[in-house]
Amino acid sequence: MAATPETVRKLSALGAKLVVESGAGKGADISDDDFQAAGAAIASADAAAGAQIVLGVQGPDPALLAGAAPGAWIVAGLDPFGQRARVDAYAAAGLEALAMEFMPRITRAQSMDILSSQANLAGYKAVLVAANLYGRAFPMMMTAAGTVSAAKAFIMGVGVAGLQAIATARRLGAQVSATDVRSATKEQIQSLGAKPIFVENVAGIEGEGAGGYATEMSPEYQKAQAELVSSHIAKQDIVITTALIPGRAAPRLISDAQIATMRPGSVIYDLAVAQGGNVEGSVADQVVERHGVKIVGYANTPALLPADASALFSRNLFNFLSAFWDKEQGRPVLDEEIGNAIRLTQGGQVVHERLKG
Ligand code: NAI
Repeated sequence: MAATPETVRKLSALGAKLVVESGAGKGADISDDDFQAAGAAIASADAAAGAQIVLGVQGPDPALLAGAAPGAWIVAGLDPFGQRARVDAYAAAGLEALAMEFMPRITRAQSMDILSSQANLAGYKAVLVAANLYGRAFPMMMTAAGTVSAAKAFIMGVGVAGLQAIATARRLGAQVSATDVRSATKEQIQSLGAKPIFVENVAGIEGEGAGGYATEMSPEYQKAQAELVSSHIAKQDIVITTALIPGRAAPRLISDAQIATMRPGSVIYDLAVAQGGNVEGSVADQVVERHGVKIVGYANTPALLPADASALFSRNLFNFLSAFWDKEQGRPVLDEEIGNAIRLTQGGQVVHERLKG
């Protein structure tokens, strides 16, 4: 959900009038009555009629927005590269589409960052799902009947999701190792009690990279990384992959031949499946088995924690709207830095640099 009773109350206090689509909160255990008690009206159809701002988790079907006010804002995770036709339709309808995933990684926007709030939950849940599918225990156990050895977990990609996956796997008692292309993550991995596995002979990305994000690596680096992964992965029981490159398909990190070297019963969770996948053979919203290894590919992992995902996502949207709220106009007004970063469409045109040309 893009709103909860908490954010409905807070937005109402700013002077906004809220309308919530009937039944929209059901999956997050929030009833229409809860929303009404917080001050929202419930609409069973045409919820966007007259709206100046439409909040969504993902970009709504443009057909549902026919009644929105001219120039209305669409504030959601819009998947601008994956849903380009939708972005064009928002432009044609004269709507102002604001892609929350393009929020710049600057200190003042941290509380508005949907990628971080959702990735953190995804990293946690991926480990729990993998643990459930794994036919063995995570921690070492010394029992009268003999010793159960600790699971070995390998986390590939140590951004927000990867750091939480390391922490969660450690808490469950696994022996954890992790890798990334950004050298800055080495210390972070160690500080969480995990072992860094890094390509040493070819330069990776020094420091944090542009805005903290990775870029595509050289063929030389990719080859060195594949060799490193091949020798390490054969000894792993659990692998969680989280590697993403903004605006591009996710890098392929694990091949079918590498999966074949793993012990049957091992589990791989591909958190990048919706962006094309880090793992050969992973399928969106399915658990497939290759060489006795389970490959999990839920496309929307945060949605497996709907209540927390909604609470954090809706706070991100509230923090965004309230930071720019203009009391006199009774609506938010964006500044240039954040406006230019997130605005996809305006005045009937697609205006974002990354979508032009
Ligand atoms: P992401 O979701 O874009 O990617 C996940 C991870 O995959 C990244 O660590 C990336 O380096 C890694 N990766 C990409 N290609 C790879 C490859 N071929 N092999 C192995 N790993 C690969 O990243 P996320 O989680 O969005 O975080 C990126 C950075 O932004 C981090 O440094 C994070 O601390 C920083 N950040 C800063 C914020 C702020 O200042 N407001 C807010 C959130 C994150």
